[in-house]
Amino acid sequence: MTTALRFSLLLLGVSFSRGFLNDLFDEEEEAERVVQASKYGSLWPLPQKVQLSEVSFKLNGVSFKISDAKESTATPSCSLLQDAYRRYYEYMFGSFKRQEGRKSRHAGPSDVTELQVWITSSESDCDSFPSVASDESYELTVDQPYAVLKAPKVWGALHGLETFSQLVYEDENGAKSINSTTISDFPRFAHRGILLDSSRHFLPIKVLLANLETMAMNKFNVFHWHIVDDPSFPYLSRTFPQLSQQGAYHPYTHVYTPADVKMVIEFGRLRGIRVIPEFDTPGHTQSWGKGQKDLLTPCYSGSKPSGTFGPVNPILNTTYDFMSQFFKEVSTVFPDAYIHLGGDEVDFSCWKSNPDIQKFMEQQGFGKDFTKLESFYIQKLLDIVATSQKGYMIWQEVFDNGVKVM
Ligand SMILES: *[C@@H]1O[C@H](CO)[C@@H](O)[C@H](O)[C@H]1NC(C)=O
Ligand SMILES: *[C@@H]1O[C@H](CO)[C@@H](O)[C@H](O)[C@H]1NC(C)=O
Repeated sequence: MTTALRFSLLLLGVSFSRGFLNDLFDEEEEAERVVQASKYGSLWPLPQKVQLSEVSFKLNGVSFKISDAKESTATPSCSLLQDAYRRYYEYMFGSFKRQEGRKSRHAGPSDVTELQVWITSSESDCDSFPSVASDESYELTVDQPYAVLKAPKVWGALHGLETFSQLVYEDENGAKSINSTTISDFPRFAHRGILLDSSRHFLPIKVLLANLETMAMNKFNVFHWHIVDDPSFPYLSRTFPQLSQQGAYHPYTHVYTPADVKMVIEFGRLRGIRVIPEFDTPGHTQSWGKGQKDLLTPCYSGSKPSGTFGPVNPILNTTYDFMSQFFKEVSTVFPDAYIHLGGDEVDFSCWKSNPDIQKFMEQQGFGKDFTKLESFYIQKLLDIVATSQKGYMIWQEVFDNGVKVM
């Protein structure tokens, strides 16, 4: 993947917000919108089935509550849901404390007083991590006096809460309102990801969390964390602390500690978002070389080392010892079933210049075909990752180059 594309994805990730999306939408659809507002209100992304009516109800922030339906299999100890109830209450009405200060108003006869959340399957997934196979479906019925949100798992309930919050609007007098509505929804794609690159630019934790929050508002479910690359190595490894010590932009202020990483993963989980880290090798590894001696290939200028380094050195056993230990750690730190192994843009010129690599190529019978050497490396890496019980992802380019990946 090119730098330019990564960069534009980064910008998209950071500036992604309802406002941003609405702006885009406005520009493209302006002509039509002048004639007629969307009949679906502000629903985004559009649910699979929507029936909106013109029957409108009021919501009173003082008395309105979001709670477990009594039939729900989730208990009040499901902190994922409790946390989401609080969060969505605040999106809709502002902080609860401020509401308490206001003059209380009794619920009127046309009020929706409660959103009941009903987890219907015996296993709510409350304490699990989301996966590519997670059931994210839900059904939402907004009626009076109760709205009911039914979902087999907590993941669908999270999306239903988001949808409910998008249905709330203020009438001409500023009163919170919601129309009678029936929605049934499930995602078209199981993997809905955003990539952020925290190597070229270090992204403070609060930026990562804001991005996760915005992803949840747009029902995205995979944070592809391109965490290290050539420019810097901000991941603080317990096994190899010298990697960030030497390879980060700053060894203390520009690193992600184990606690930081845990926080990002849990913040994502509470919003139904998987965190898939990318540790790209054998290219894109200049920053790794600063803290790990002999990991990168020394490049030659004629018969002498030039002092610069190329991709990971694929001919040393120590390389694979390092990768085994490193990915063993990564696979315990990141709970998702997949790790992204990169594999893109391997520059062969340094490998070509190195006499030890030339000799190895000859011994292995690879001829002058450096994709065979790349295959050799990737194969060994995949075996290493397979022993940690993880699945892997790689860039398409690896397939396109004909590298054997199974
Ligand atoms: C909600 O109901 C109001 C009042 O009947 C109506 O004016 C409005 O168009 C409805 N909104 C949607 C999105 O259907
Ligand atoms: C590297 O490992 C291979 C396979 O285990 C072994 O045959 C070889 O002697 C090792 N090379 C070195 C330099 O230790």
